[in-house]
Amino acid sequence: MISLSLIKVALQEYFSSSQILRRPEPRLVMDDDDQVIQFDSEGEPSGNLVSSYLYISFRVTELINESSLVLDLGSGSGQLLSRIARYNPQTNFIGLELSPQMIAFANERIQRQQISNMEMRHQDMSLLDGFSDKSVDAIISSLAIHHLPDLKTLEVCFKNIARVLKDDGSIFLMDFNLLKREESIEYFINCESKSPRRSLRDYSYSLRAAFPLASMKELVTRYLPKDTCVYTPFGCPFFIMILRKGRKTEPLTQDKIKQFKEAFKGMSPKNKSTFREINLSFALNGVRKIAL
Ligand SMILES: C[S@@+](CC[C@H](N)C(=O)[O-])C[C@H]1O[C@@H](n2cnc3c(N)ncnc32)[C@H](O)[C@@H]1O
Repeated sequence: MISLSLIKVALQEYFSSSQILRRPEPRLVMDDDDQVIQFDSEGEPSGNLVSSYLYISFRVTELINESSLVLDLGSGSGQLLSRIARYNPQTNFIGLELSPQMIAFANERIQRQQISNMEMRHQDMSLLDGFSDKSVDAIISSLAIHHLPDLKTLEVCFKNIARVLKDDGSIFLMDFNLLKREESIEYFINCESKSPRRSLRDYSYSLRAAFPLASMKELVTRYLPKDTCVYTPFGCPFFIMILRKGRKTEPLTQDKIKQFKEAFKGMSPKNKSTFREINLSFALNGVRKIAL
């Protein structure tokens, strides 16, 4: 249910002519043990990230083909990438991550769940070292771009995405978008006030470290393939989605749709409602709605 206070925040954001300054994450690489444990727990069934993980898993599955190579930039503990890899067992996934602690969590997950089509590499997501030109079928990322230190590094990252991606490759990058007003950020932090203190602090750092929409759009236009689109949700532009469809033409199989439906059914009422909000708000701005 959309509240009046959210509509007020959305209108104030829309009409605001100012833009707060971005503040980079105090810890660009998440290598603090407590922070890693806390972040990983947000991907567990009762965590705050489950609904966006389901949304992203569906969107990525729509974009990729069997036996292709997919790079995930800033994979963290692999909560999301391992889900995507399980939905797409015929596709190969490489997760790039600089935090040894996150990589250890992800590797433990890969082993425990016996995932044979996903590997983690200790590598900088802005450099994409070791990947030759036009060798990758899809580049994906979730909640990681805002961990880059500055626009210069983001520029390097986008140049390298364009370099390693095949001509008909797909792109799906989703992250926070920098809101224009400090009050809007406070509003979203207050909405999660029941979350653990550590999570709230990381959330507030992330919202302030997001890149501004205008800079993102400019770099997308300058470096990514011409048919790459930028979307924000209708109402309050809290997220940004950078999407290139690539070559996939086959619709999802009934079996895959069934798996997504089951995952949706298993979510808590709060997560179901968040999923519907993400789905609807992007659909109202032109991203095809997911029917689950
Ligand atoms: C907020 S987490 C997101 C994890 C995951 N993608 C998800 O959605 O759950 C961002 C991750 O990016 C990693 N990171 C930061 N800078 C990086 C870089 N230059 N190259 C690779 N990973 C990086 C951090 O260590 C952190 O684990």
